[in-house]
Amino acid sequence: MYRREKPSTGHNPPETAKVERGRVHLGAPFAEGMSDHRIAILPGDGTGREVAIEAMRILDTVQAHTNHGFEQVSIPCGGQHYKETGEEWAEGSFDFCRDEADAIFLGAIGYPGARLPNGDLAGGSVILGMRAGLDLYANVRPIKLYEGVPHKVHGKFTQIWEPGMVDMTVLRENTEGLYHALLRRSADRALGREEYTPPEMTFPGLEGEIAYDPRPISSKGTERLVRMGFDIATTRNGAPSDGEKRVSCIDKSNVTRGCQLFRRVFDDVAKSYPSIGTDHGYIDAFMQWLTRTPEYYDVVVLSNMFGDIATDLGAVLQGGMGMAASGNVGDNHAFFEPVHGSAPKHAGQNKVNPIASINSIQMMLDWLGRKNGEDELVKIASLIDDSVAEHLKNGNSLTYDLGGTASCTDVGISISNILSGKLSEL
Ligand code: IPM
Ligand code: MG
Repeated sequence: MYRREKPSTGHNPPETAKVERGRVHLGAPFAEGMSDHRIAILPGDGTGREVAIEAMRILDTVQAHTNHGFEQVSIPCGGQHYKETGEEWAEGSFDFCRDEADAIFLGAIGYPGARLPNGDLAGGSVILGMRAGLDLYANVRPIKLYEGVPHKVHGKFTQIWEPGMVDMTVLRENTEGLYHALLRRSADRALGREEYTPPEMTFPGLEGEIAYDPRPISSKGTERLVRMGFDIATTRNGAPSDGEKRVSCIDKSNVTRGCQLFRRVFDDVAKSYPSIGTDHGYIDAFMQWLTRTPEYYDVVVLSNMFGDIATDLGAVLQGGMGMAASGNVGDNHAFFEPVHGSAPKHAGQNKVNPIASINSIQMMLDWLGRKNGEDELVKIASLIDDSVAEHLKNGNSLTYDLGGTASCTDVGISISNILSGKLSEL
């Protein structure tokens, strides 16, 4: 069984790991006989702090019933932290996530009015800095509708899409495209490098003040994303409509050069996966098909900004942003986060849906298990999915976004209790 090396901190830290302004302190060594995983928990801003508690509850539950131990190291960060301390996160936090953590959970980043002197989002070093600085090139966003989840439209709860007919995995490119300059700047800050500025360009025919963001797309960035898409397709059961394993390339190659390259690389990679079907679509048309025939989609790959936009629409099919989980995944590192933001207007009320975060932990354990060849962790991840499904099917403890009155804590405890039962039968 996989064991991580004992931390070589050279000092005797207190029982629980902590972060103080200016420096991250590592936790105590793991207990003997445990399969140990060190998880960095970045609660961030607003409701991110509330859902992080439920994510941690799931890890605690797994630890209580199995031989998988999790040392959870909480790192304050984000826009509010920046306003209070002048730092997006304590010095050493990025290094800790890169060098000491086996996996990372992030709640949400974004605090009203929290901007860096250069105008960038305060907290960007955390979310965007890790995406680029840890080379997490694929943002993996499953879109799955569970039984018992209604759709909120026109202020009413109705069933628009059918459970079983919405089950796809979207891969959003995560290190380049329209986000490239901002990602690069954020990683530069996280790594203490000099900040990147894109070269000046001229735009003939335009007048007045001009702002622009370059949208570079590389063959390497596309190839590794598409390859992961095909690899994920091999592990899934195919599209709900016909059971066919299929990867869809969604782009705007009728218009942009970057997308032409993206599609060409996709077609090249597809040749090495002859048993998996392919499909092509333009992003604008995809917005229609995603809502009208979601059952056709199995795995979808898109460039960065298209993936950002498409997955918020995809979340509607799942029952809303409170249901949308994600993993920012590279070859060596990964961080897992709910797709929703910090939702400042709901913060402090213990009312938001923690399922996106609980399912992000599910993705984390699946990733850790596959990476380290720990089949039991992969199994545990699937039990978290079963527990979420059972909780939703029972339908008696739902948060406001799904038409209920339960609190974030209620839902977290309910799912943890179901999971405890399943784990004790392992
Ligand atoms: C997301 C979010 C982020 C993004 C924001 C918070 C920078 O919308 O993860 O989808 O644009 O990538
Ligand atoms: Mg987004």
